[in-house]
Formats: sequence, C-alpha cells, structure tokens
Amino acid sequence: MDAPRDLDPRRAPLELDPDEFRRLGHETVDAIADFLRTLPERPVTTSESPSEIRAALGGGALPERGAPPDELLAEAARLLFDHSALNGHPRFFAYITSSATPIGALGDLLAAAVNPNVGGFPLAPLATELEAQTIRWIAELLGYPTDCGGLLVSGGTMANFVGLLAARAARAPWDVRADGLAAAEAARLRVYASAETHTWIQKAADLFGLGTEAIRWIETDGEQRMLVPALREQIAADRVEGALPLLVVGTAGTVSTGAIDPLDELADLSRREGIWFHVDGAYGAPAAVLPDAPPELAALARADSIAVDPHKWLYAPLEAGCVLVRDREKLRAAFTYRPPYYRFEEGADAPIQYVDFGPQNSRGFRALKVWLALRQAGREGYARAIAQDVELARELHRLADADPELEAWTTKLSITTFRYVPRGVEAGTPAGEELVNRVNEELLGRLQSGGEVFLSNAVVRGAYLLRACVVNFRTGLRDVRAVPEIVKRVGAEVAAELG
Ligand SMILES: Cc1ncc(COP(=O)(O)O)c(C=O)c1O
Repeated sequence: MDAPRDLDPRRAPLELDPDEFRRLGHETVDAIADFLRTLPERPVTTSESPSEIRAALGGGALPERGAPPDELLAEAARLLFDHSALNGHPRFFAYITSSATPIGALGDLLAAAVNPNVGGFPLAPLATELEAQTIRWIAELLGYPTDCGGLLVSGGTMANFVGLLAARAARAPWDVRADGLAAAEAARLRVYASAETHTWIQKAADLFGLGTEAIRWIETDGEQRMLVPALREQIAADRVEGALPLLVVGTAGTVSTGAIDPLDELADLSRREGIWFHVDGAYGAPAAVLPDAPPELAALARADSIAVDPHKWLYAPLEAGCVLVRDREKLRAAFTYRPPYYRFEEGADAPIQYVDFGPQNSRGFRALKVWLALRQAGREGYARAIAQDVELARELHRLADADPELEAWTTKLSITTFRYVPRGVEAGTPAGEELVNRVNEELLGRLQSGGEVFLSNAVVRGAYLLRACVVNFRTGLRDVRAVPEIVKRVGAEVAAELG
C-alpha cells in the first residue's frame, strides 16, 4: 500500500527545517539584543488597560490555518517588547522580581531545544546530574550541607510547600501520606510563622489540609523580626490543647522590609521542642555569600529545610525556585511512589529520579539557566552583584533621610522603605497620617503607570510606604539618585489634588 501523502517524507505543520530554524533564531536573537540595548530608554512599564492590550493582541477565534513562523516571531517580539512591565529595566525596583540573566535566556532556549524531562534519569541523564550539581552549588553558596536533598521548582511558594510537605511526612507520628489528616490517631497540626511571613503559608495550610487556622502568627519586634518568647508561649499553649507543633518557619528576608528572623534562636527552640525548622530564604538567603553577610544567616546551616529562589536574588529568568532538605531521605519519603509503569533502578548507586523528590512528574530543565549563571559569575561575581544591590538600596535610604520631603523608614538587605510627606502636612497626627497614607497610595499607583520608575509598597505600623527592592544588576547610582526627584514631583501633584 502507498504511504499516505505527507508521510514519506513526513511534512509536519510544526517542524522547522534546520536552516529555517537557524535564520529565525538569528533574527529573534538580533531583536532581543536590540531590545536589551534600548532597555534604559524604554518606559519601565505600560499604562495600557487590559482592553488596550487585547486590542494590540488582536481578537478573533483560534486560527483555522497556520501562518509563517517568521511573521509570528517578529510579531510576538514586538508585542512583548512594547507592552510589558520590564523587570530587567534599570529603574524597576518593585516586589522581589529581579532582572534576568541574558545567559539564562539562552539557557532556556537550549533547554527547550533538547527538552529533557527531568522527572526521571532515563529521560534526562545529563540534565539530572546537572540539576544535582546546581543544588550542591546553591547549598554551598548558602553554607548548607552539600549532601542535602533538594530540587528546583517553579518558585518560592512551591519551594516552601515542599519544605512543609517534607516536615509533615517526617514529623507526623502517624502515616499521614496514607491516612491523611483525618486519621483516627491524628493530632491537629500547628505551624508557626511571624506575622511578616509571605502568603505562601496560607496557601500551603489551605491546600495541604491543615487549614489556615493551623497557622500561629507570631508577633514581631520593632524590626519586623519574630519574637522568640511569643513563639515559645504559643507552642506551650498548643501542647496543652493537645495539638502537634509541626513546623517553625523563620524568614531570611521578609517580603515587605527584608527583615531576618533570629534564625539561630529559632533553630535552638525548634531542636529543643522536636519541631521541624524551615527557613523561607526565598529572597534573602543568597546574601549569605557576602563576606559581611548578616550574622543571622549563619544559622541557615541549622535548618531542616530551606526555600531559596534563583529567580529572585540569583537573577534567573522566571521560573526557578529551589528547596533544600538537610536529610535527603526525608525529602524522598515525602513524595516517592512506585507505579508499575515506571522502571527505576534501586540501590545505593541508583541514579537520582527527581520525580521521587517533589510534587511534579514531568519536569522541565530549569537548572540549566541557574547553572550557567553560577558559572558565568562564580561565587565572587554573585557576592559582588548582591553587595552592589545592597549598597544601592542603602544609598536610596540615605537620600530619603537627607530630603525634607521624604521620610526614610527601613533599609535591610536590598529593600528600602520610605514615604513622601507633602510640605506643610504634619505626619504623626491621626489626620496627618491618614492624609500621608492616601497620598502615598495614590502616588504609588501613578508611579507604577507612569513608566519612569517602578516601585511597590509596604505597610509598616499602619504607615503606607513606598518600597524599593534592588535585585537588579542593571540598576546603577544614577537610577537610584533619580528616584527622590521623580517621587517628589509626582507626589506634589497628588498632594495638590488630595490635600
Ligand atoms: C519571602 C518570600 N517568600 C516566598 C515568596 C513567594 O515566591 P514566589 O513568588 O516565587 O512564589 C516571596 C515572593 O516575593 C517572598 O518574598
């Protein structure tokens, strides 16, 4: 029988002839290089509404017929360059979203082209070992034991989830994986975190069946650090009620102000109480590489598990989170199954199967972009980049402090908070505070849509603050020095309208 048309040789609608791929690739890379060169002159963000963005995208139903890939790639590049919030822009200071390493972008291209499935060693021999090496290097950077377990996940939220699940499997005295939280012998589980902890913990308590009421929010001191005596009292009270204290979360770099909890004391208390000690270092843990690292970070080495985000302060393109678990077998024990349709070697020399160490089955090759950047900069390069970010944040704090229209609040790691206080307004009185809050909230909205500088906010002791987080290797002194003038100019407009 004759082969059906188009099958010998096969002509697939999605294939690109290698020569065509080369041409399109060169064109796309050229467009990206031009984009990177012109980044500083572009607005940091677009002020377009969703409907304007939809109009730019073009409506219409799913296309019935295909289109030429060169046109599509050129159009996609143009759309992205012109209608995005540019977190690689030197004046992007918002949230904890870093500039992305260009080598990481090329790494992602390479990873997608080879497309290893890093769930199982047979599907990804090189990628599996490269991920394992990346995990060891990240552990080394943080001063954590390099024989730990760990893997890359989508981000900080997921990395923290994995830490909690490892704790739950390891510390629940019944078979929680089989019998769940409703088992006859189950105790109510409790997790402890400061009031400054990122919202991942609510999602985790909710998703994994503990319920958000299981979270004990521990108050903080004037520096937004967890109060250890309050933690001790809460644990004791929960034991009296028959609940099971499962997990203490210390944060190394809180999302609002970059505060670092007293990790050493938390490690001591957790050990004494037999509670799993997890550190959310999603943002701040890489600061451990600094020669003058905050001393609290030395206790990262004592954590049972750590979440750290390469897509934050290791500057990896999204997405890349990482979890490290001191006892590799405890991590495996939280996730492994042996379905009949997979064949895995067992034994001491058996290869790593990442499907055993985390929630995902098929897994992309996130490690490559992180590995390439770690090699490109080395420990020394990362220490320099992180130190520069910290220095720039402090410079902004100094500038705000010296300016009569600005009020400097906090500067920790690479986060500085400050606010605009319009001339003639008496901050500190209830009416003055209310007005200053309103002005700063409106001011932030205008800055975020204005395109000159992109900041975010923090609320500290009821004060609505502007917040700059420098996790951006493209930001320089002139970018930071531009911030006060922009804030005061736009702030004066807002104050005139609201005052
Ligand atoms: C301290 C901290 N933990 C966790 C997260 C969540 O990380 P992701 O957004 O990558 O899920 C963040 C995000 O900013 C964070 O600052």
